Amino acid sequence: MTARIIDGKAFAERLRERIADEVSTLKAQHGITPGLAVVLLGEDPASTVYVRSKAKQTVEVGMASFEHKLGAATSEADLLALVAKLNADPTVNGILVQLPLPKQINTDRVLAAISPEKDVDGFHVVNAGLLATGQKAMVPCTPLGCLMLLKDTLGDLAGSEAVVVGRSNIVGKPMAQLLLGESCTVTIAHSKSRDLPGICRRADILVAAVGRPEMIKGDWIKPGATVIDVGINRVPAPEKGPDKHKLVGDVDFASASAVAGAITPVPGGVGPMTIACLLANTLTATCRANGLPEPYLLETAV
Ligand code: GUN
Repeated sequence: MTARIIDGKAFAERLRERIADEVSTLKAQHGITPGLAVVLLGEDPASTVYVRSKAKQTVEVGMASFEHKLGAATSEADLLALVAKLNADPTVNGILVQLPLPKQINTDRVLAAISPEKDVDGFHVVNAGLLATGQKAMVPCTPLGCLMLLKDTLGDLAGSEAVVVGRSNIVGKPMAQLLLGESCTVTIAHSKSRDLPGICRRADILVAAVGRPEMIKGDWIKPGATVIDVGINRVPAPEKGPDKHKLVGDVDFASASAVAGAITPVPGGVGPMTIACLLANTLTATCRANGLPEPYLLETAV
């Protein structure tokens, strides 16, 4: 079998177009421009690239982008003061503090200081609790993007065996909650799970978010399964030349795509969905803040 490739890049483009349409309607009918504030401490190269890309796409869909670049030595008190200012600013509908934060800062305290209504990352404990209890929440962007791709590929997920490999607060745990919400039978596995290959082999839906390059092999996959690869790992690529690198996922694409029914590539799979979902969350937060109906973006991007 050769798997169908799930094109996250194309899906994310359609989602952003849909968001741009909704933003222009908000502006024309209500005079509202959604605003997203992104806070970056220091100059970590990966974070800098990511923040630049967020700002560009925010402006492209017609939203206002507020960038706050602070030094790596910024104190927790100063960062908390900025978060408080953004919480109180009515032109800011979404707040994202780029992670990881420098060592002098307690990440949990900063995330807890963001107003849950503006927490477009969905990392606040209130949003995690709302998601876990099946209530209206801000849902973390990467798992939300994975769910959109899964629903687009499979339609109804009810009754499916889903295995999530990875237990992070950012991907693994919220992904499992979302799949449970879709009536899947959900297993959360991780690097310490006994017989990880055997657990993966049970999955109709396999979500890999462990952060280990090409760890999940083709013979870990049930024939015909749908595989969502969240991993983005930069590894040496000597075949491209000395000092060259390439991006690979947590799944060994070559062997897995020979067994799976459908699979996301890396790059071009889950990656582009994360920022598109950040914009979707910012739009949702804006509608909620203004008492307007929320556009249902989960399936309409198809
Ligand atoms: N660092 C890497 N990915 C993310 C993300 O989705 N949100 C935030 N806040 N920081 C990140």
